[in-house]
Amino acid sequence: MDNKEVIESWLTGLTKEQKEQYLDRLNRNPWLVYRPHKIQRKFHESQARIRFFFGGNRAGKTRALIQEVIWYAIGLHPFKKVPTPSHIWVVSLDFPSSRDVVQPMIKRLVGSAYLKSFHETDKIIELVNGSTISFKSCDSGWEKFQGTERHLIAFDEEPAWDIYQECLMRTASVKGDIICAMTPLHGMSWVYDEIY
Ligand SMILES: Nc1ncnc2c1ncn2[C@@H]1O[C@H](COP(=O)(O)OP(=O)(O)OP(=O)(O)O)[C@@H](O)[C@H]1O
Ligand SMILES: [Mg+2]
Repeated sequence: MDNKEVIESWLTGLTKEQKEQYLDRLNRNPWLVYRPHKIQRKFHESQARIRFFFGGNRAGKTRALIQEVIWYAIGLHPFKKVPTPSHIWVVSLDFPSSRDVVQPMIKRLVGSAYLKSFHETDKIIELVNGSTISFKSCDSGWEKFQGTERHLIAFDEEPAWDIYQECLMRTASVKGDIICAMTPLHGMSWVYDEIY
């Protein structure tokens, strides 16, 4: 299958208007053209509210996670209905990995057609449709995860239990989603009991 066929196959279930809108946006932003491999696709297709992508090094975990963030942010997800605008947190383990891994990926993928502003100090990207993507890091402690509702919280690698708990509360009232892409490095951590 070429890219076009893959994209067409994602769009089944959308109205004609939504399809045209999606394809138009794709054409304006080539970075949105992404061909997930089999395991990434399974992750994207899952209808669960809490989704974990377990994989080894370089398995494409972060790429798949970021693609989800982009789909929620632009309000068009090929496999589910997502709210617009969506308020999203992207959570890394520490500040350098946020700055060096996920922030550049997301900025590049959002593209100039969608980007309204990037607040450097608050680490918040605002999109033209009102969605926001905020970058957070686990090493700032769970207290920094208090606050308002989130429609999507995306963890790049396994967060501490207290932060995960706090994030569950942030998504509860709006029935938001939680996604996590991780290599299981910590053996029998809370993830084992909670997710398996
Ligand atoms: N479906 C895909 N098509 C093309 N390239 C991909 C795809 N998925 C991932 N990649 C590329 O493969 C590389 C590794 O992907 P990624 O960083 O997402 O892996 P990871 O599992 O998060 O790795 P790490 O263990 O280092 O965290 C990146 O350069 C990414 O852009
Ligand atoms: Mg990664």
